[in-house]
Amino acid sequence: MIAEGAEVVCLDNLISGELAHIAHLRGHPKFQFVEHDVASPIQLDGVDAVFHLASPASPNPDSQKSYIAHPVETALANSQGTHELLKLAERNGAGFLFASTSEAYGDPLEHPQRETYWGNVNPIGIRSCYDESKRFGEALSMAFFRSHGVKARIVRIFNTYGPRCDVLDGRVVPAFIGQALAGLPLTVHGDGSQTRSLCYVSDLVDGLWRMMNEPRTCGDVVNLGNPEEHTVLEFAELIRKLCGSESRIVFEGLRADDPTRRRPDIAKAQALLGWNPTVPLIDGLERTIQWCREQPA
Ligand SMILES: NC(=O)c1ccc[n+]([C@@H]2O[C@H](COP(=O)([O-])OP(=O)(O)OC[C@H]3O[C@@H](n4cnc5c(N)ncnc54)[C@H](O)[C@@H]3O)[C@@H](O)[C@H]2O)c1
Repeated sequence: MIAEGAEVVCLDNLISGELAHIAHLRGHPKFQFVEHDVASPIQLDGVDAVFHLASPASPNPDSQKSYIAHPVETALANSQGTHELLKLAERNGAGFLFASTSEAYGDPLEHPQRETYWGNVNPIGIRSCYDESKRFGEALSMAFFRSHGVKARIVRIFNTYGPRCDVLDGRVVPAFIGQALAGLPLTVHGDGSQTRSLCYVSDLVDGLWRMMNEPRTCGDVVNLGNPEEHTVLEFAELIRKLCGSESRIVFEGLRADDPTRRRPDIAKAQALLGWNPTVPLIDGLERTIQWCREQPA
């Protein structure tokens, strides 16, 4: 966005983020960081666009950065936080984008997942602080669009990875890379036959930018993700090979409410935004592995 000439104010309470991830932007005259919980009121003027991406996002119960470790904060970031940021957009007459998730589909009974599918979500399960608060955030965004005229749109993001991911937050790509580079066993939950579709981060950012700049997306929801589907075991084997690692692959119990299949139908994004993922899986993984290699141990 800064490259497009925009001035960016980044609000983050650092519950799952790291200042190191924005080190390359600090000091830039068009970038400002404010440590702030989006669930608290915020006063900002001259805002043209609000991108609401603030939420813990890792489902790994062993990680201190996961939404399982911070269920109340997660539920509030996507409910109260969405309310505060919608009010900010309304006061400024700004565009609003809510980063929802493929988890809004739960463990889907339809495959691939289209935006018209309403989902199969456990409302009281261990993941519900995330899944259900994202669903509420979607509903609140639509309420502000319908009754307050806010230019709100919703993106359902499917698994995204890339440099500046966190090897400790337990998501599948950084976890496997961290384990493979450290010579540790790669931990697969269940038998590894559950599927995921991985989108490289620059493709996602391109989609978010197009979404905000396309007026026809107001009051609508669009999937963004890469439809190339693989099993988790295939990802483990590929990452191990690309890392040149001889680590074993070990199998642990399946996590509660872990979706068995996950692949976006992106026909709507293609038609509305002219968007397609462009970074092939191997290229994206190699760039991510290279970045991880360059990090201090
Ligand atoms: N990466 C994915 O695969 C994926 C998939 C679906 C949806 N998403 C959504 O995209 C967004 C970004 O995810 P990410 O993967 O970059 O995760 P991340 O944890 O790296 O980034 C989220 C950021 O939000 C901040 N945050 C959390 N709660 C906050 C609050 N109350 N106030 C201010 N800041 C807060 C965290 O400190 C962190 O820096 C999230 O909303 C997530 O739900 C991501």
